[in-house]
Amino acid sequence: TAASDSMALRRAPALLGFQVQACQGAQTAAAVAPHLKKFAIYRWDPDKPGDKPQMQTYEIDLNKCGSMVLDALIKIKNDMDAMLTFQRSCQESICGSCAMNINGVNMLVCTRRIDYNLSKVSKIYPLPHMYVIKDLVPDLNNSYAQYKSIQPCLRKDESQEGKEQYLQYIEDREKLDGLYECIVCACGSTSCPSYWQNGGSGVLMQAYRWMIDSRDDFTEEWLAQLQNPFSLYRSHTIMSCTRTCPKGLNFRKSNS
Ligand code: SF4
Ligand code: FES
Repeated sequence: TAASDSMALRRAPALLGFQVQACQGAQTAAAVAPHLKKFAIYRWDPDKPGDKPQMQTYEIDLNKCGSMVLDALIKIKNDMDAMLTFQRSCQESICGSCAMNINGVNMLVCTRRIDYNLSKVSKIYPLPHMYVIKDLVPDLNNSYAQYKSIQPCLRKDESQEGKEQYLQYIEDREKLDGLYECIVCACGSTSCPSYWQNGGSGVLMQAYRWMIDSRDDFTEEWLAQLQNPFSLYRSHTIMSCTRTCPKGLNFRKSNS
C-alpha cells in the first residue's frame, strides 16, 4: 500500500546507515590484532594402552573466546581437540562439577576469569590427589561416599514427621549462613594436606551445617558419629580449605 511504501522509504536511510555501520564494524574486527594465550592442559587417556599423563599446550585467540576459563576449554574442545575431556553443567557456580586446579589453585573454572597476561601460560590440571578418570575429570566416588556417610539431611523424630511445619527463628536460620551454600565441589578437601594423607575430615563442615540446624533433633547422634579417628581429629586446622573454597565458606566455623 501507499502507506507501507512511504514507511519503507522513511526506514531506508536508517537501514542504509546500519549497513554502513556493520561494514565499518567488520573492518575494525579484521584490524584487531589477535590476543594469543597459551593453555597447558593435563591429558591422560586410560583407553590408550601405555598412555602416560602429559601436558598439552593449546593457543587460542582471546578475542574469539568468552572471558572465563571454561569458555577457553569449550573453545579448545569445539575448535581444536574434540577428545579433550572435562565436566561442567550449570556454568554459574551452582553444580560444582567444573572444579579443577589452575596454576596450583583449586577453583570452579566456570566463574574464574582467564588471566589476560599473555606471557603467562595457564596450566590446568584435574583436582589434586584424586584418581583421574580421563584428562580433567577426577574420580569423585570417594568424596561422594564420604558426603553420603554423614546422611546430609534434617533428622527428625519419625513419629512427628508430616504433623507440623518445621519452624525456625530468624536468628537460628542465620547461623546457617556461610554453611548451607556448599555445592560439594571438593575444591576445599582436595586442597588439604591432611585429606591427601588420611582421606578424612572432608565433610566436617557439611556435617556441622546439619548438626547446628535448630530443626534437627539428633545433635547427640551427630556428635557421636564424628567421634572416630578419621573424622574430627584429622583436621589440623591448616585452613587450605577455607582459603580455597570458591563459595567463600569458612571451615573454621565448624572447627571451633
Ligand atoms: S565447602 Fe566450599 S570448597 Fe568445600 S565442597 Fe563446599 S563449596 Fe566446595
Ligand atoms: S559448571 Fe557448575 S559450578 Fe561450574
